[in-house]
Amino acid sequence: MLNILKGSGWKTRLLNPVDEFWDRRLGISTFGYTPAIGDKDSLDLRMHYEPTPYRVIFKILKHLGAGPDDVFVDFGSGMGRTTFAACWAGCGRSVGVEIDPSLYRHACMNLEKSAVSDRQIQFICTPAQRYDPSGTTIVYLFHPFGPGTLQLVVANLQRDILDNPRDVKIAYNNPVFPETLDASGLFRKTGEWAAEGTKLPYRVAFWQTAL
Ligand SMILES: C[S@@+](CC[C@H](N)C(=O)[O-])C[C@H]1O[C@@H](n2cnc3c(N)ncnc32)[C@H](O)[C@@H]1O
Repeated sequence: MLNILKGSGWKTRLLNPVDEFWDRRLGISTFGYTPAIGDKDSLDLRMHYEPTPYRVIFKILKHLGAGPDDVFVDFGSGMGRTTFAACWAGCGRSVGVEIDPSLYRHACMNLEKSAVSDRQIQFICTPAQRYDPSGTTIVYLFHPFGPGTLQLVVANLQRDILDNPRDVKIAYNNPVFPETLDASGLFRKTGEWAAEGTKLPYRVAFWQTAL
């Protein structure tokens, strides 16, 4: 519990006024930190919790043309920031998949008090590699896990798309293992840019189904 509170104090909020503004506007709290689990080179590494800056997720959703027909899924959703942002930005449905029970509980608490609790938002506490991705049209990843887990998630997605052909877009923030997506054969890379306007130095890369 104490770890979760790390990175959620007044200093972090003061230094990130845009994120503080959007948390308040959505009626949620998503500042926090939990450490990574596993060696940085391990296949099933679980990355630490660090929320995506609102500016970045809104820019990504706009770039993808997110709309009411979209089902957005954040694999490794933490406290739910991007899941709420996706609904706010117009996605018809938004799902957050998180392995850490305390982060999942925090996201559920956010949902109860949120200004958008009447929208189609759902949080699921399960390993991303066990989530059934049927219906998903937008996948969001903020470097959540190691390459072994990513490979399983992409394989599930690929199987589902071949069964139910549809256009699926993937946004991978801090794309540490892009080769996993490039190797899938089903997705083609459509772009990459720097996550400007934030203190984070990461790039964001995009793929789309090439059916
Ligand atoms: C960098 S944080 C991103 C949080 C959120 N997506 C955001 O952008 O605001 C990565 C998250 O992935 C979660 N995670 C790591 N491995 C996972 C797995 N196998 N299944 C689901 N979630 C996982 C971590 O617990 C952490 O909350």
